[in-house]
Amino acid sequence: MTETTAAPEHDAVLWGATGYVGQILAGHLAAQHAAGTSAGRWALAGRDRDRLARVRDDAGLPADTPLLVADADDPRSVEALVRGTRLVLSVVGPYGRHGSALVAACAAHGVDYVDLSGEPRWARRMIAEHDATARSTGARLVLSAGFDSVPFELAAQVLQREAHARWGSPLPALSCRVLVEGDAGFSGGTLASLAAEVEAARADGDARGLVLPSGYAGTQGPLSAEPAHDDALGMWVAPWVLAPINVWNLHWSNALRGQAWGDLTYDEMMLAGPGPVGEATATAIAGMMAGLVDAPPRLPGEGPDAAARDAGAYTVLLTGSAPDGRRLTSVVTAQGDPGYGSTSRIVLEVARGLLVGAAEPGAGGGFWTPGALLGEWLEDRLAAHAGLTFTTQGAADRHVV
Ligand SMILES: NC(=O)c1ccc[n+]([C@@H]2O[C@H](COP(=O)([O-])OP(=O)(O)OC[C@H]3O[C@@H](n4cnc5c(N)ncnc54)[C@H](OP(=O)(O)O)[C@@H]3O)[C@@H](O)[C@H]2O)c1
Repeated sequence: MTETTAAPEHDAVLWGATGYVGQILAGHLAAQHAAGTSAGRWALAGRDRDRLARVRDDAGLPADTPLLVADADDPRSVEALVRGTRLVLSVVGPYGRHGSALVAACAAHGVDYVDLSGEPRWARRMIAEHDATARSTGARLVLSAGFDSVPFELAAQVLQREAHARWGSPLPALSCRVLVEGDAGFSGGTLASLAAEVEAARADGDARGLVLPSGYAGTQGPLSAEPAHDDALGMWVAPWVLAPINVWNLHWSNALRGQAWGDLTYDEMMLAGPGPVGEATATAIAGMMAGLVDAPPRLPGEGPDAAARDAGAYTVLLTGSAPDGRRLTSVVTAQGDPGYGSTSRIVLEVARGLLVGAAEPGAGGGFWTPGALLGEWLEDRLAAHAGLTFTTQGAADRHVV
């Protein structure tokens, strides 16, 4: 007897649509729908149907947009959600608290998954528990598909591609400096997730360690908690809140690419500026970092307003070098505050990549970073539709369709 499986009802489900980031994403989906550029039929999911209906209407999505009720504390509702779709984009966080049942269900049912998790310890556990299942079902599970860590991963991807083209080999030492303009700050959900990650780090006594999923090799990159002077740039640099997440993802991306970037070291710090003012700024940032999770939090559901999201911008400056003197810099810039304005556009393009079949040839089921899965397609989409620019110093600018 042949078992027939009905086609999923939805192409994609946005879970967490009633949250701060979820509502921003619903607005983008409505704009895509109005412009006729949607990658598929989307449904909204959350804990409360009435609030989902309000999000749908406020965003301007069609009245017949499906609304699905699923609660992380009710695994059967999560399972039902997964069985009805080809892809789930989850902005239900902290992921370590609410995300595990969804990942397990997606892996088991061969459903693609995209999230904004910046919680490496949870990621490591999910990979250990579900990678083999996802490989067998074909589910592509894409973690950290926002500001952390897509611009950083793609900066490395652009740089190493150029290094291969020029010299036939990668640059083994990568040093990243990031400049964030604007003061949008964090959402309540991000603060909750950062606090959860710090708590997890304290619990396993490994606050700054680089621990990759078993089976993947990676060299520990230096992670500094102290201000320092970057002599090459002539500027002071400060510890950077996302470095522990991005360092992990960079090494994991390299592992997923079969160590194509070699035996890598990678460090990442925030640009504070030149001279005594730069030094004072770097020292102040280091002090703030120490007390970050004790800062007065925004509540879940709250975040920077639209004006603050639009006003921001960021630059990622990645320099690669080799002991033989080879040196190359790649630069990624973007408009929009990184955490929400830019992130919301990036994550939707990652989901689009899965929906339209843009994965790299041969990329099957399992856990992925966005760049390792979608390669140059993602650079092209983000340049054309999310306001990012990618350049390498000394090479022709890369403007893409
Ligand atoms: N990587 C990046 O670049 C990046 C950027 C931005 C955000 N993020 C992450 O994205 C996540 C969401 O951020 P946010 O600011 O939107 O947070 P938020 O406003 O607190 O939203 C959290 C969402 O999770 C839902 N939720 C909570 N408990 C649930 C449960 N038991 N079952 C189902 N849903 C539940 C909430 O539903 P209710 O409305 O019913 O409470 C809400 O929709 C956070 O983990 C944050 O760290 C990452």
